[in-house]
Amino acid sequence: MYRTHNCGELRIADVNKEVTLSGWAASIRDKGGLLWIDLRDRYGITQLLMDENYTAKEIFDTARSVGREFVLQATGTVVERESKSNKIPTGDIEIKVSSLKILNASKTPPFTIVDETDGGDDLRMKYRYLDLRRNAVQKNLIFRSNLAVETRKYLAGQGFIEVETPNLIKSTPEGARDFVVPSRMNKGQFYALPQSPHTFKQILMVAGFDKYFQIVKCFRDEDLRADRQPEFTQIDCEMSFVHQEDILNTFEGLTKYLFQQALGITLADFPRMTYDEAMRKYGSDKPDLRFGMAFVDLKSPADAEFGSGVDVVPTGFPVFDSAETVVAICAPGCAEYSRKQIDELTEWVKRPQIGAKGLVYVRIEADGTPKSSVDKFYTPDQLKVWAEKCEAKPGDMLFILCGEDEKTRKQLSELRLELGNRLGLRKGDDFKPLWVVDFPLLEWDEEENRFFAMHHPFTSPKPEDIPKMDSDDRATLKSMRADAYDLVLNGVEIGGGSIRIHDRDLQARNFRLLGFTPEEAEAQFGFLLGAFEYGAPPHGGIAFGFDRLNAVMNGANSIRDFIAFPKNNQGRDMMIDAPDTIKLKQLEELGIRIVPQD
Ligand code: AMO
Repeated sequence: MYRTHNCGELRIADVNKEVTLSGWAASIRDKGGLLWIDLRDRYGITQLLMDENYTAKEIFDTARSVGREFVLQATGTVVERESKSNKIPTGDIEIKVSSLKILNASKTPPFTIVDETDGGDDLRMKYRYLDLRRNAVQKNLIFRSNLAVETRKYLAGQGFIEVETPNLIKSTPEGARDFVVPSRMNKGQFYALPQSPHTFKQILMVAGFDKYFQIVKCFRDEDLRADRQPEFTQIDCEMSFVHQEDILNTFEGLTKYLFQQALGITLADFPRMTYDEAMRKYGSDKPDLRFGMAFVDLKSPADAEFGSGVDVVPTGFPVFDSAETVVAICAPGCAEYSRKQIDELTEWVKRPQIGAKGLVYVRIEADGTPKSSVDKFYTPDQLKVWAEKCEAKPGDMLFILCGEDEKTRKQLSELRLELGNRLGLRKGDDFKPLWVVDFPLLEWDEEENRFFAMHHPFTSPKPEDIPKMDSDDRATLKSMRADAYDLVLNGVEIGGGSIRIHDRDLQARNFRLLGFTPEEAEAQFGFLLGAFEYGAPPHGGIAFGFDRLNAVMNGANSIRDFIAFPKNNQGRDMMIDAPDTIKLKQLEELGIRIVPQD
């Protein structure tokens, strides 16, 4: 028997028990006559004690030959510790060792296996098995496992059926780039890995499954960021005979249940916001509602997409005079910002990633007088109007950006989030979920000079907007709303979905709007259009980014810490060293010839 107990379970009540433990040597302290080894496994750490007064010499000798990460088996008696530790649950006891066996030696690890490791990202990814041995990473994966179990419990309890869909499917031109897989049996042809099981879940509704879910890998060949991996996991769901309201309720229920089970947190009902309101007030379709600082329009044209038509900017300052939009946020308590801090923030918004031309501030002094970088152009009374509009209090600071409407709001959104960080307002253990609804159906792409589906081509327009589909006017088409929604949590898009088109003709009209010829639509999605002719029920669904949900629930920014074997920023798996070249023979079998490029 390798062990009677694990390294995390012995307590003071176990004193005098004879036990055997197995695990890894986390640390070794040799004080001459006394030697301690911290033995670690997935469950915790238990201290082994060797004392030359009563420990046999050969055990001491064995213990002295142990290095970090050796695999050991120790037998001994549980004793009460002289100096107790309240840092670990087993801190009241230690094991007086009577037998010590080295089960396997270890090379010195390239970084320390502790919560705050000294290992850099690349090293940790190369030796991921050592990184995964760290308590902090194991905790994340155990959390993830539990969340998957709870997800299945909830959805199964609601009558959802888990169905597996294929991974070798057909490449489609919409969405991100596909990863493709050459077919040996069909030379010159390629499968694509699914970006999501989307069309299959719609087909399952046509088949009458009524409620489907799958915790499923998806593959997208897109640029990587902290919250994006080329392969990631969705909780993918679809339901028949539902309206948007049914879907929002079901998945608000799932989210609340998961928070309760995994974190013991009871979430209040989720607020809802239209896409237009989110863009107008926060310059983002995924606003972080853990803090305020909503936008206040000082000047914006009524006919701009998100403007409110207000204007309290008297003429005088040429930059504002010529701007389409002047929009402010009120940063609480920031009036004490030094000149240097403001200059630094100005440089920050002028970086190419943000792209603002400059930053105007209005400081609200303790007595309420406004002091600003545009004092030359406006009277204190004029500035007071802005302060009142922004509900600024003494001690606050207004930050103002101006320019073209949509761009300015995006820039101010970045500044708002940055200030939220600097002011410590984005706390990892504060959770503010939100449904963003009424997304536009279409998105105009200047470069390609055509419309793309904002969510995807199967999303249903709002019934009242369907007549607009026949319009030739770009603005009319742009104004069409869809029955599409996102679940946003702390500024992260956790999930997205829509009510689908279930009518063949409407689907064909939508493809036409997206620039597909009938032949192209048939070639790409003929199977779905065909299925729609055999009794497709009204249906809709949603997919959650499971990696993101795990990260956000733990207040973490990077989803990598919640994926056992993630890729690095270049899309490489550093441990197995993939992607890699393949043998000429394999290429020949696949009928692929590599043309050298100079
Ligand atoms: P969508 O493309 O919005 O919808 O994806 C759903 C959710 O998946 C997560 N996600 C990602 N997570 C990590 N890395 C990525 N590269 C990545 N891309 C997306 C996000 C996102 O909200 N079939 C539709 C859903 C539907 O309409 O039902 C779909 O895939 O959290």
